[in-house]
Amino acid sequence: MEQKFTLRHLREMKARGEKAVMLTAFDAATARWAQEAGVQMILVGDSMGNTVLGYPNTLPVTLEESLSHTAAVRRGSDKCLVVGDMPFMTYQLDIHEAVRNAGRYLKECGADAVKLEGGRTMLPLIRRLVEVGIPVMGHIGLLPQSVLKDGGYRIHGRAEEERKALLEDAAALDEAGVFALVLEGIPRELAEEITASVRASTVGIGAGAGTDAQVQVLADLLGYGGDGYLPRHAKRYASVHDIAVQAIREYASEVRSGTFPDQAHSVSMTPAKPAK
Ligand code: KIV
Repeated sequence: MEQKFTLRHLREMKARGEKAVMLTAFDAATARWAQEAGVQMILVGDSMGNTVLGYPNTLPVTLEESLSHTAAVRRGSDKCLVVGDMPFMTYQLDIHEAVRNAGRYLKECGADAVKLEGGRTMLPLIRRLVEVGIPVMGHIGLLPQSVLKDGGYRIHGRAEEERKALLEDAAALDEAGVFALVLEGIPRELAEEITASVRASTVGIGAGAGTDAQVQVLADLLGYGGDGYLPRHAKRYASVHDIAVQAIREYASEVRSGTFPDQAHSVSMTPAKPAK
């Protein structure tokens, strides 16, 4: 990518029917990987809670943790569109506080936008954020921050009542001005219907191939955590956990046997003579 990817580029891609690629990242190194691989948008997802911070789900992630990781991602990527994912209870209580918290992603971290979960109940907040100039990515369907209320993770929108509610949520959020809408864990036919009916770019995860963009969780894609868990919608492209453990095992074994550090990885009192 030569140019910084912006909301305008995303809109133009939807108009041309071209797919955009989004991936989660959580620090400068993973952001660099994503940018080098040609990913256009990075979500500093609160999935960092269960994939890298060791929490059981996304609920314990704090605003300060999320801001710190978003800033690190921005430092690792100057070209990707970076979206900070607002953690549970940082935007649900009070619009004033939510706008202040959202603003910190742009002012302190260099993020380009924020994401928040929820349908029509989020409309007053989304309208206010858009009014003050904060680009918003909505998120409907399976909402990880509602895992306790829902009693687990499940597909949404198969029942007619839920399908209708999701169509209405999508239309309302679109009208309120979200620039993009994550559709998570919904049938592909419904995702296609929403994609065709909204101006915003849809970003699917577990929603089939018919959305304007796709997003995946980096740890799923790379086999990062080593816990063997892989959601049905995710595909494992590498086993970074296995590669890392093997490399660390070799290091530990060389330390124990005394073969590391060898002369090439240490210095002596007499400096090496420069090669002629
Ligand atoms: O936190 C996250 O990674 C997300 C994606 C699942 C969209 O919200």
